[in-house]
This record gives sequence, structure tokens and C-alpha cells, in this order.
Amino acid sequence: MCGIVGYIGEQEAYPILIKGLHRLEYRGYDSAGVSMINAKHDLNIYKATGKVAALEDKCAAEDTTGNIGIAHTRWATHGEPNTVNAHPHRSQSGNLSLVHNGIIENYKTLRTKLENEGYTFCSDTDTEVLVQLIEYTQKSQQCDLFTAVQRALKHVVGAYAIAILEKENPDQLVCARKGSPLVIGVGTDARGHKEFYLGSDATPIVEYTKQVVYLKDEEIALMDRSGKLEIINLSNVHQTPEMHILSLSLDELEKGGYPHFMLKEIWEQPNALRTCIRGRIHVQAKDVLLSGITDHKEKFLNARRIIICACGTSWHSALIGKYFIEEAAQIPVEVEYASEFRYRNPVIYPDDIVIAVSQSGETADTLAAIQLGEQKGAFLYGICNVIGSSIARATQSGTYIHVGPEIGVASTKAFTGQVTTLCLIGLAIAKEKHTLSDEMYHMLIDELQTIPDKIQWTLENNQGIDQFAQMFTYCRNFLFLGRGYNYPVALEGALKLKEISYIHAEGYPAAEMKHGPIALVDEEMPCVFIAPKRGMYDKVVSNIQEIKSRKGKIISVVTEGDKIVSDMSDYTFVIPDTRDCFVPLLAVIPLQLLSYYVATAKGRNVDQPRNLAKSVTVE
Ligand code: F6R
Repeated sequence: MCGIVGYIGEQEAYPILIKGLHRLEYRGYDSAGVSMINAKHDLNIYKATGKVAALEDKCAAEDTTGNIGIAHTRWATHGEPNTVNAHPHRSQSGNLSLVHNGIIENYKTLRTKLENEGYTFCSDTDTEVLVQLIEYTQKSQQCDLFTAVQRALKHVVGAYAIAILEKENPDQLVCARKGSPLVIGVGTDARGHKEFYLGSDATPIVEYTKQVVYLKDEEIALMDRSGKLEIINLSNVHQTPEMHILSLSLDELEKGGYPHFMLKEIWEQPNALRTCIRGRIHVQAKDVLLSGITDHKEKFLNARRIIICACGTSWHSALIGKYFIEEAAQIPVEVEYASEFRYRNPVIYPDDIVIAVSQSGETADTLAAIQLGEQKGAFLYGICNVIGSSIARATQSGTYIHVGPEIGVASTKAFTGQVTTLCLIGLAIAKEKHTLSDEMYHMLIDELQTIPDKIQWTLENNQGIDQFAQMFTYCRNFLFLGRGYNYPVALEGALKLKEISYIHAEGYPAAEMKHGPIALVDEEMPCVFIAPKRGMYDKVVSNIQEIKSRKGKIISVVTEGDKIVSDMSDYTFVIPDTRDCFVPLLAVIPLQLLSYYVATAKGRNVDQPRNLAKSVTVE
């Protein structure tokens, strides 16, 4: 989704802004823009459709000087992706420029009011309304920009993160947030001058400073060239900036020799899961230690039900979590699409626990689902990757998955991190509720610790997928089939393939296939079966038989040493044996590789697939 970068200090702003936009490219966007105030007090704005590189080309012959600036990557919501709709937007007098993430819901009403005051608009965006509204407030109420932003935003309904420049005042940068994140970096340049960086997340900031302030909802910040940082909220109350230290490192944001972030992140999974598990398992005592659960033990012991809300890949991991928590901890678990849950007036009891699963911690629908849970008095628990994200802060307790930044738009290591975390949570609740025998509890903990090594084995023993994938670039459809714990893996395999290769794919419970999708099967249709020698193996073998007799092409994920399914298949991926509940953590690996290699063979941009955004901050 849209990204924001800002800078005020003694350095040239443009190189910092452009580098920051490149760091934010992973979020997905379709146009970009930049604005600086030069030494002559000119407020320059340059915009381009397409990639940041196109913006750089456009700026090459322009005046990009100035030591204050803002920049933006736009993922179109209101109005098509063109240079008029791209940000920054300029106010009518030309005194202000503004960038915005989020959606202004009452922009039509505001626009009509401003038109009645003589304002004209050149774009189709809701953002242009904001910049004109702030200018109108500043002029009509004869106040400074900081005050005008605060007063104007009281009339705004919707979500926003904004940054604004004022031509007449190049010593101050103003920003504000509600429902869309903003991070202020506080740094010191080589000559010891204080400087401020701004980002819609920490990625454009981390190489300059580790000291950050996460702006809270309804806060407006003023960054002054003198080094002063002032924060006020919409109710006019001054706030003390809370300084945090970033744990993110620059290496984590780079490709490290891999052609794409997605491939790097697939291969990072063994180590990512070691980090996810580290400190949460007491190795000698064979015990799970999750303070997020133990600190709220009574809530979990008395929970009537757990409702997990999530979107996309996170929804798939939630489904695996449901199967595991119900089996291990004997609590009913419902898994909801956050976007459906928030609007359908669901029954939520005060003794329910609402868990949000979200890699970014910023997904608008998941955040809204949590807020609904809060209104109904449920206990709120977050499973996020991004530290300090909105969902992490909106929940009463939670567990970070700690898999490091995920830059590729297609989620890979966050999926396995979420599944691992949900398994840890299931084990922690089971321990409190005594729903597992000691023997079973210890055995599951032992087995979970072997998973990182087994993922490494899976990566190393399925190296031919790049060659094999070439054969499938012509396909228009794929079917992914699995049962039990592997049904969500089928869903995830299908999602991965469709989002980065643009091949239509469906995931289905293998037995359900007879009730419709089997009509699609012919010699052209690849059917991917997740068929480990576990659980419902014999049943899956029968399902494969049904497809085979209709001449479908069988690709299977099998346990190492399996002969029966391998012999029935046109191609097999192998995984080591593990408990049923942990098979998804291994079976998803070849499916991630398959989608990656099919997509790259088709020449797709796997890290930034068309129309997709990394962090979906609009509903
Ligand atoms: C798919 C993918 C998306 C996200 C979904 C939720 O590869 O990445 O489906 O899983 O947008 O995002 P988070 O987990 O950030 O809430």
C-alpha cells in the first residue's frame, strides 16, 4: 500500500527521500512523487506513474535541492494511477504540499463545502481535499500550520497518515496519523545537528537512526529544524514523545545475494523459525514458556471460545491454528475473515478471546475486527510480526512471531512463523488446562524443535523444482488438494501460485473435490496433492486415484520414502516425516518454491506482483 517518507535537517533531502521510496517499494504502488523546498523557498513537486526509477528519471533534469522534503508511493484507491492523482498534492495557493496514506470517508462532503468557498480541484483523490481543507483552515482562522492541521483533522472521517510542507516555513515539517502508521526517526548528522526522518514504517529510517517515535492515533507532530519535536492530539492535549529503539537491521532489508526477496525469505525459514521458537521453549524441561498466555492464564482457563480474525495467508495459518488448538487445548475455535466478521454483527461474549493474526499488524479489516471484539468486552490477543504495529498495540496481550522483516509481497516466512506461534500458543494453553498427557506434551515440544532442520532438509532435497516449474508456465488452472491439517496448506499453495504467477488456482479439501471441482479435471489440469504418510493417507490415495482416472496430472507432496503416491504421481516433492500437526510447516515449502519458479519462468515480478500491496491498510 501507499508509503510515506519525509526528512528535515541539514542534509540534502532528495537522495534520502528517493532511497526511502525504494525501501518502501515492497509495499506495492503504482505511482510516486516527491516534494522539496529549495533555498529560494520554491516548493517543487515532481511525480511519475510506475516505478520510483521513473520518478528519478523525471527528476534528473529538475531542481531537487532543499533540506526539507516529503515523498510518497501511491497505491490507487480514488482515481486511476496517473500523475495528477499521484501525491504530493499542492494546495490552491501553492503554499502547501501534502502526502497521505489511508482513505478519507467524508471527502465528498468536505469537497463540496470547499468548492462553495471557492476552492477548485484538479485530481479525483480524497487527498487533495485534505490539503485544501488545511489551507482553508489556516487562512480562515489565521493560525500556523501545526494548529491548522489539528483543527482541520477534527472534521475528517476516515484513516490517514499525512505529512505536509509549507513553502513559507521551510524550517518545520508537520505530520499526523489516525488508523494508518507513521514513524518519526530522530537522528544526528555528521556535524552533530539534530535531524528528523519520517516513514510509514521504519524501513526508510533504519539506516540513519535507531531512535524512533511511533506516532499514536489522533496525534499531530511538529518537527522543527532546531531539533524540537512537539506532539499534540486532536483534543488539544500535549503529548510527551515516547522514544523506542529499533531492533531492525539494514541487512534484513537487503536481498543478500538472492535474485528476489521472496526466494531469500523462503530460504530464511529454518533460521526464522529457530528465532520464533527461541526463548519460548525450555529445552531441558521440555516446556513452553509464553508470557502472553501465562500472564493472562485465567482468561484462557475460563475462555468460552477463541475467535481468530485474519485475512489472506494469515487466515490460512489461523485455520491450522484452529485445528491444533482444538485438538491440544480442547477450546472451540472459530476462524473468521476479518472483513466479514467486522460487518456482520457477530455474537461475541465477554469470556471469548479474539485473536488477530497479522504479519504487518496494520491490516485495516483485522484491526477493525479487534476493535469490535473490544467493544463487546472480549479479551484481545495479537499475533504479529512487525514490532509496535497497530494491532500489536491495540491488543491486551500477544506473541510476536519474530521472523524478521518480510519484504516480498507474497507471504512465506510469516506463514510458517504464524503456524509455529499458534502451535506454541496451543501447547501453552494445553499445559494450563492439562488437556494433553505429559508424554504427548513433551513429545510435541521435542518434535516442534526439529522443524527448522526439517525445513532445511526440505529446501535442500527439492532442488529440481526450478526445472520442473518450466513445464507449467502454459497452464491456465491449478488445483491444490489436501485433507485435515493439509487443507489450509492447499489453500495457501493455491493463493501463492495465483498471486505471483497470475495462474488461476483453487485450493480444496481433497474429499470435497467430488462435489464440483472434479468437473474441471482433464489432461490439462495439474492437481497438487498434499499426501504425507500420516493421518488420512489412505483416503487421500483414493482421491488421487479419482483424479488419475480422469487423466489429471498429479503433482504430490509425499513423505520421504513413500512409494505408493510417488508411483501414482507425475512429479513428487519430498518432505521428512513429522507429526500431523506440523506437516503444514514442511509441506508448504515445496509449494512456495513451485509458485516462485513458475512465476519467475513466466517473467513475473514476484516481489511486487500487480495490484497487490504488502500491508492492506484500506478496507
Ligand atoms: C499473501 C499475503 C496476504 C496477506 C494478507 C494479510 O501472500 O501476503 O494474503 O496475508 O494481506 O496481511 P497481514 O498478515 O499483514 O494482516
